Amino acid sequence: MSTTVGTQEKSKRMANLLATKPLNLLMEEARETGEHSLKRTLGVFQLTALGVGAIIGAGIFVMVGLGAHYAGPGLSLSFVLSGLGCAFAGLCYAEFAAMIPLAGSAYTYAYATLGELLAWIIGWDLTLEYAMGASTVSSGWSNHFVELLNIFHLKMPLWLAYDYWTALKTAENIVARQMVSAANPSLGITTQAFLDKVTAIISVQSPELLQRAHDLLGAPHIFGMEIGFNLPAFLIALVITTILVVGIKESARFNATIVVVKVSVVLFVIGLGSHYISRANWGMDWHSYAPHGMSGIWQGAAYIFFAYIGFDAVSTTAQEAKNPQRDLPIGMIASLAICTVLYIAVAGVLTGMVHWQQINIEAPVAAAFLDLGLTTAANIITLGALAGLTSVMLVMLLGQTRVLYSMANDGLLPRKFFAAIHPKFRTPWKNTILVGSLAAVVGSVTPIDQLGKMVNIGTLLAFVIVSVAVMVLRRTNPSQPRPFRTPWVPLIPILGVVANGYMMINLGLWNWIRLIGWLAIGLVVYFTYSRKHSRVQALEAGRQPEV
Ligand code: ALA
Repeated sequence: MSTTVGTQEKSKRMANLLATKPLNLLMEEARETGEHSLKRTLGVFQLTALGVGAIIGAGIFVMVGLGAHYAGPGLSLSFVLSGLGCAFAGLCYAEFAAMIPLAGSAYTYAYATLGELLAWIIGWDLTLEYAMGASTVSSGWSNHFVELLNIFHLKMPLWLAYDYWTALKTAENIVARQMVSAANPSLGITTQAFLDKVTAIISVQSPELLQRAHDLLGAPHIFGMEIGFNLPAFLIALVITTILVVGIKESARFNATIVVVKVSVVLFVIGLGSHYISRANWGMDWHSYAPHGMSGIWQGAAYIFFAYIGFDAVSTTAQEAKNPQRDLPIGMIASLAICTVLYIAVAGVLTGMVHWQQINIEAPVAAAFLDLGLTTAANIITLGALAGLTSVMLVMLLGQTRVLYSMANDGLLPRKFFAAIHPKFRTPWKNTILVGSLAAVVGSVTPIDQLGKMVNIGTLLAFVIVSVAVMVLRRTNPSQPRPFRTPWVPLIPILGVVANGYMMINLGLWNWIRLIGWLAIGLVVYFTYSRKHSRVQALEAGRQPEV
C-alpha cells in the first residue's frame, strides 16, 4: 500500500516538473495593458535596429582574428556556417515570437512546450548569453575606450583601466617588452600570445620583472591589498542602465543612432579594404584556403558565432512591440540577414588584405589598416567598434531584464522585485538597476574574458532547445494560430539542432564543465525557491497563486 502511495507521489512530483504553461494563459498575459504592464512603442524599424544593435560588436571587430587562425582564408565560409546555424534557429524563434508574444523568449517557449524544469534551465542559461555577454562586452568596451584615449595622447593609470589581474598582466607585458627591447632591439614581438610567452620566461628568470610591474601599476591599497578597478567598464554599464530605466522608446532611439554609426563604419571597412585585397592571400586551392581543413572551418565557426549573438534578444521585447506578431519575425530575420551579408564581406576583405597567419588577434580589423599606414582609417574603426559595443551592451541588458521579468511573473523569481514596473517609465526598473549594477561590478573587478567564453555555449544551448520546442508544439498544439510558420518543419529545426549542437561540441571540454556547473547552481535555486512559488504549479494544484 505504502509503496503504491509512494509511487503515486513520485510520479506526481515528476509530472509537476514537466508542467507546461497553458497557451490560453500565455495569450491572456500577452494581451495585458495598463500602467502595470510594459509600454508598446516599438515598430519594425526599431526592432530591426535592436537586432543589428545587439549583433555587430566585439565578434566582428575583435574575435574575427582568432577565428581566422582556426579557419585560415576560409573564414568567410565559417561565417556562412555559423550564420546558417543562426538562421535555422532564427526561423524557429520567429514562429514562437509571433505565436507567443511574451518577453521571456526561449524561456517562455520552453515553458509552453517542454515543461517548467526545462524552462527554468533555459531561463537560467540565458543569463550566460545576456548578463555575462554584457559584462564581457563592457570590458571590451573599456579596451577600446583606452585605445581611443591613446589616439588623443591621453593615458589612464593601469589600475583604473583594468581589473586587478588584467592590470597586473598588462603591466608585466609592458615591462617584459621594455626588457626585451633593451637587450635585443631587433626582436619584434608581434602577437599577444608571443608576448605572454616572453613575459612568462622572463618572470621565471628575473624576479625584477614582477617588482617593476607592481611599480608601474602604482595601485592604491585597500586593507593592505592592491586594487584594480575598470572604471570605464563600470561607468558605461551604469550609463546604459540609466537609459534602460528611463524608457524603452529612449533606449530604442539611442540604439538606432549608434546602429547608423557602426553600420557606416562596417561599410567603410568593406569599401576601403576591398582596394587593398591581394588575391594570393585567399589561397589558390582548397588546402591553402582551409589550412586546417573542414575541422578548422567549423572551429572558426564556433568561435565567431559570438559575432551573431543578439538577434534573438529582439524576441524579448515582444511586450513592447506595437505589432509583435508581424514585426518580431521581420526584425529578427532582417537583422540577421543584414549582418550575415556584412560579416561575410568583412571576412573576405580582411583575409584578402592580410595573410591569415599575420592577422592580429587583439584588434584585427583596425590593425589591418594600421599596417598599411592608414592611421585615420584605423582610428575610425576603433570609434566604430566602441559604438558597436555600446549598443550590444544595451540590448543584452535589455534582454536579460525582460527574461527575468517573465520568470518573476510566473513566480519562479520574487515577483515584487523582478516584475515591478515603474509607474512613469513603464520599465522593470528594479530588476534593471540590479542587473545593470551587477554587470558593472562584474565587468570592472573580475577578469571576465575567461568566463566570457561561456556566452557562446549558453546561447547555442538556447538555440538547440528552441529548435526542439518548435517540433514539440507542432505536435501538441497543431491547430494554434501561427502568424509566422517556420518553413520545412521538421527539416529546419533538425538542422538547427545539428548545426548549433555541433558548434557546442567544438567549444571544448572546459566550456561544457563550466556550463554544467552553472546549470547545477540554477537547479539548487529552482528546488529551493522557484518550484515552491510557481504560479503554474499553484494553478495545477488548485491553489491560489501568490501575488
Ligand atoms: N554579437 C555581439 C558581439 O559581437 C555579442 O559583440
